[in-house]
Formats: sequence, structure tokens, C-alpha cells
Amino acid sequence: MKNGGRFYKKTMSDVPLVGKTILVRADYNVPLTKDGKISDDFRIRQSVPTIKKLLEYGCRVIIISHLGRPDGMRDMRYTLEPAAARLAQLLGQDVRFIDECVGHKVFMWTKRAPQGSVTVLENLRFHPEEEANDTEFARQLAKQTHADYFVQDGFGVVHRAHASTSAITAYVPSVAGLLLEREVSTITHAMKEPIRPLVAVLGGAKVSDKIPVIKALVPIADKIIVGGAMANTFLAHDGYAMGKSKVEDGMDTVIEDVYARIKKKVGNDKIDGFLILPVDVGSGTSLEQTATRKDVTIRGIQSDAYALDIGPKSMRRLIEEVARAKTVIWNGTLGMCEVPAFRAGSVALAEVLTGKHAPDSIIGGGDTTDFVLGWDSKKGANFPYISTGGGASLELMSGLKLPGVESLLDA
Ligand code: 3PG
Repeated sequence: MKNGGRFYKKTMSDVPLVGKTILVRADYNVPLTKDGKISDDFRIRQSVPTIKKLLEYGCRVIIISHLGRPDGMRDMRYTLEPAAARLAQLLGQDVRFIDECVGHKVFMWTKRAPQGSVTVLENLRFHPEEEANDTEFARQLAKQTHADYFVQDGFGVVHRAHASTSAITAYVPSVAGLLLEREVSTITHAMKEPIRPLVAVLGGAKVSDKIPVIKALVPIADKIIVGGAMANTFLAHDGYAMGKSKVEDGMDTVIEDVYARIKKKVGNDKIDGFLILPVDVGSGTSLEQTATRKDVTIRGIQSDAYALDIGPKSMRRLIEEVARAKTVIWNGTLGMCEVPAFRAGSVALAEVLTGKHAPDSIIGGGDTTDFVLGWDSKKGANFPYISTGGGASLELMSGLKLPGVESLLDA
């Protein structure tokens, strides 16, 4: 996936890094198993190029991140120690873990950390000041780590105005890391100058989460394909009986507004050809792992059944449209992928996007990323571009300004 020209914020190549102490904000908010193990290290892997580049310059690298939502409390289920251990494996060198992110220990260690060393500090969100964007906490992070520069590389979290994404930039010169730069440039380029046809595939649970992105995509995309529980809400609005399916209440006005925008763009009689909803679904009466599937048309959903995936006819249409596209933006799974019987739609899409004549694509969103990384035999390397951002990539696509990017030095 191409990225667009010169980045509008200062980056690591704009500042003299040699031998400096660099505070890096990464997003190590990684999925964990029930017993606290990292179930997917994608975000940690994606942070490696920036760290390696800094090590080439002989920097001392101090990494800060959050993990989960511990609500300002020291909750050891969310310690970053396993992330530090994983990073050490990926880098092939020792990584020092400090069980605090501010305070005496941090001050003392970072003062004598050798050049070429990597340190990970404990979860920022063990302190309520992080999410409160507290200036004193931000000042401590900057000063107690002896940072010469702050490198923002936690793309997944730059839509939040927190101490480590916003306030901190007042206390230390702040530039973009390699991952942040690539994410912002790639996504912005696909939205502003897409190679057409551009097909957006939107799924996931809620329409409400994706309203701004749908509105942003209507003028840009050549087609929008909707699946997942999101499609249920559209179909219910259109008058179909959805049985026990998940349907989001209170969305009628929003959906009317989306239809009005599409009508303005393509005319009344072409709405169906632009916003493509399922014509059939994989339905089931159980949500258990062993659930079985019955494919029915959208007129045939039984009152005791849930629509849990797109059906075979809808899959064929999806494959056709995606195969004709030159750029695909995919955000949100097309069915309940946790249950084997209902992942066929998402698998079909993943197959086209990794096939021989696959269009260029950008995949974003937590659940979608988890799904494709789990599905792909090469941990995501078979796809052209998987974003580390969930909410951040949606907000960027929606045209919103991201506080963690805006606060960096202008180029
Ligand atoms: C994410 O996973 O979207 C980011 O790490 C931000 O996490 P949050 O939604 O808990 O702020």
C-alpha cells in the first residue's frame, strides 16, 4: 500500500538522534489469553523497526505504553512485563523492565542506562493522571526519564488525548516514529487519492461506532459493502424480520441520513448498487462453539434464529466486487468469527485479499485484525497492509484530527 508524500509532522529523520535518550510511546495494548499470556504480538512486532533504528543511532530507548483499562489502579493483570519479555525476544537483546513509569526508580535507572539499551516502563494507566492528560504527570514522564526527544509511535492510541499522547509534548521535543508515520500516511493516502475502484467493506457489531467513517466513505468510495451485525441493523430498518439477531436500536435517523447521502451521490435507483447489503445470511439458533449454520435468504430468518454471517450468495457478490476493486478498505468482521460455523464470509474476504490478483487493501479495527492475524499462516504478512489501529484508524479515516499526532512538532 502506497503512502502519500512528505509527512506533515517532524519525524525521527528531522532531529539529531545520535547518542540521545529517546522516550518512545508505543501501543503495547495487546490481546491477552485468560491466563495473562500475549495471544497476539502484532503491535509489539510493528514497533520493532523504530526501536532498531534508534539503536543504530546508539540511543538509550525508554518505552512507555498502556495495556488494557486498569482504571488508574495498579492491577497486575495488566503489567507490561510480558510485553517487555516479548520485545527482548524480537530484538534479540536484553530489555530492562522497570515496574514503575514515574518516580525514583525510573529516574535512577534511566540516568545510568547505557547507550544501546532498551527499557520498558510499567503500564501508564496504573496512574489515573495518564487518561486525565495531567500536565504534572506528563512533566514527570519527560523529566524523570531524562528524555532528549519524545517519539510518538503508538498509532493505536493517538486518538486519545492522554498525558503520554498530548500533555507530554509540552515538555520534550516530540516527533513521529516510523510506525506512526507509515500508518497516518498510508491511511490518509488511501482516503484522499485512492486507486479506483475503491470498495469499503464494513462489518462488526455496531452502526453507531462507524457512523463518522460511513459518512466519510460515502463521497470517496465507489461501493460500500456492509456485513456483520451492522448489516442486521440496516436490514431491520429496511423492514426485514431479523429473528433474534443483534439489531442496534435508535439507528433509524442515522440510516436515513446515510441513504440520503448515497442518494445525493448516485441517485435513488442506484442506492442498492452502491451500498451492498447481504441478500442471504448464515443463521443459527445457538452461539456456542459447536453451533451449526443454516443459510437462508433475508426473507427467511426464523423467529428463534440469529443472523450470524453473510450467506453464500452474498459472499459471491462480495468476492466479485472485491476482485474488481483496485483498493479495498476493510474494517469489521462479516460474521461472528469466534464461532467456526460463522466465519465463512470473513474467510472468503481474507482469501480474495491474499489471492493472486488481490487488490491493494488496508485492514483495520481490533476484531478484524485479530481475525486476519489468526487466520493467516504468515501472521499477517500475506496481506498488503494491516493497521495496528482500531479506533485510531477509524477516526483517521473519518477525517478527524488525532490529538497524539497534532501535538507533535510541525514539519
Ligand atoms: C486500542 O486498542 O484501540 C488502543 O490501544 C486504545 O485503547 P483504549 O480504547 O483502551 O483507549
